[in-house]
Amino acid sequence: MINNYKLIYEGKAKKVFSHSDSDKVLIEFKDDATAFNALKKAKFNGKGKLNCLISARIFEHLIKNNIPTHFLELKSDNTMIAEKIKIIPLEIVVRNIAYGSLCKETTIKAGTVLAKPLIDIYLKNDELNDPLITKERIELMNILSSEDLNLIIDLTLKINVILKSFFKNIQLQLVDFKLEFGYDFKNNIILGDEISPDNCRLWDLNQKNDTIVSLDKDRFRNDLGGLIEAYSEINRRINDFT
Ligand code: TMP
Repeated sequence: MINNYKLIYEGKAKKVFSHSDSDKVLIEFKDDATAFNALKKAKFNGKGKLNCLISARIFEHLIKNNIPTHFLELKSDNTMIAEKIKIIPLEIVVRNIAYGSLCKETTIKAGTVLAKPLIDIYLKNDELNDPLITKERIELMNILSSEDLNLIIDLTLKINVILKSFFKNIQLQLVDFKLEFGYDFKNNIILGDEISPDNCRLWDLNQKNDTIVSLDKDRFRNDLGGLIEAYSEINRRINDFT
């Protein structure tokens, strides 16, 4: 409970609370980190605050570039006020460089620069382990109409262009990332969730040779250490730039 706000949903990395205005919610970012569908768990003091601040700055940048998002304002360092949306149970992943599950599930080599962004859509369902899903199955399950799915794909590709250049300006390569969308009270599709090093792969471009230096949750997934230092560095670069 944040003061008198009621907890409506608790996810792996965030808690959602009711707001006195029924069209809004409060989203509190937790210090918990999970990977591989919560098979691996840990807590990093300060992660919630860093992800909340980073997400807020990125949402502001997207809004300036005419992308509709749920972000309204920061309430504190680890809590944002957002529009209440009905989340569409899909995880939309965009890949610019092959890494992670793409390389585990195909013969594509890690680090391959993709000729065009690849969109992989997963069903958001922990019990089923978030399986990769097809457009046909999405329609079959009545999750979305093909028009709304196309709208989401268009928005995702636009967001990718905006974010690639945003991160390049702060010497980061946007390898891949995951988005979630929802319907607002007017039934418009808007971007929800968060955009942070928890759901983006970001590689440091300030390296003299070709070594990959991950400044994202791969530090935890792959036991590299230094997660808070990496997230703090991203927050610092964003603040210095904007
Ligand atoms: P993947 O290579 O494991 O499929 O991940 C692709 C991108 O999506 C990566 O930036 C991490 C992000 N992601 C999430 O945000 N949540 C998830 O549950 C998964 C599996 C990936």
